Amino acid sequence: MKFKRIVLIMAMEDEARSIIHELNLIHKGKLLSPLPMAFYEGKYKSLNVDLVTSGKCYKHNVDHIGPQAAILNTASAIGQLHPDLIINPGTAGGFMSAGGNIGDVYLSYPMICYHDRRIPLPGFDAYGVGSYYCFDTREIANSLGLKTGVVSTGSSLDYIQKDLDMIKSYGGVVKEMEAASIAWVADLYKIPFFAIKSITDLVDNSTPTEEEFLKNLESASFALSREIIRVIDFLANHQE
Ligand code: ADE
Repeated sequence: MKFKRIVLIMAMEDEARSIIHELNLIHKGKLLSPLPMAFYEGKYKSLNVDLVTSGKCYKHNVDHIGPQAAILNTASAIGQLHPDLIINPGTAGGFMSAGGNIGDVYLSYPMICYHDRRIPLPGFDAYGVGSYYCFDTREIANSLGLKTGVVSTGSSLDYIQKDLDMIKSYGGVVKEMEAASIAWVADLYKIPFFAIKSITDLVDNSTPTEEEFLKNLESASFALSREIIRVIDFLANHQE
């Protein structure tokens, strides 16, 4: 694992704050004006570690979450920063039925799919799901005691039954809103990529997702920050 330039692609500022603080990243303004993406620069041991959030929507004054902004963020970050590894830290929903708990942190493996791009046309059905392979995180996960699993991406925080059917069909255990989009762009450029996701809510319990998400966002973001730093430290110490 000989990575020198790592870029962390993130959606929400609330998720990124603790990582920015713990890694002492410096805010450098917009990554590429007039795009809203915010650029933070830093170093960890021998590694360059940069972080780009998708910034705020000037019209609705909220963070740019979801698959569209993630694509623009990733394409811009690759063009500007030339990473040799892309990581997407974020929060996500987990599944009790898969043994998930709030506060768990997962590394994506072996793939990342879309659960809400339903295109029932020959060939386009599989294209819609995407099934992007990601970097083999098993060694990192085993060393650090993290879970691995299939990450599933969609445009909505909540779900309809068809989303759940799709997630079940490929064994998804983590539901979130950006990773497959980042995986797609990373794959076009052949840059290794994986996601690290901290669980804020359980999709298959009776509490509404938005309630559980808001309640656990801060603690899950702390757990995310703790674990992404352990992952970066592992990468810095395994430069063979
Ligand atoms: N982010 C955090 N929890 C989520 C969920 N249940 N679905 C999509 N994105 C999420």
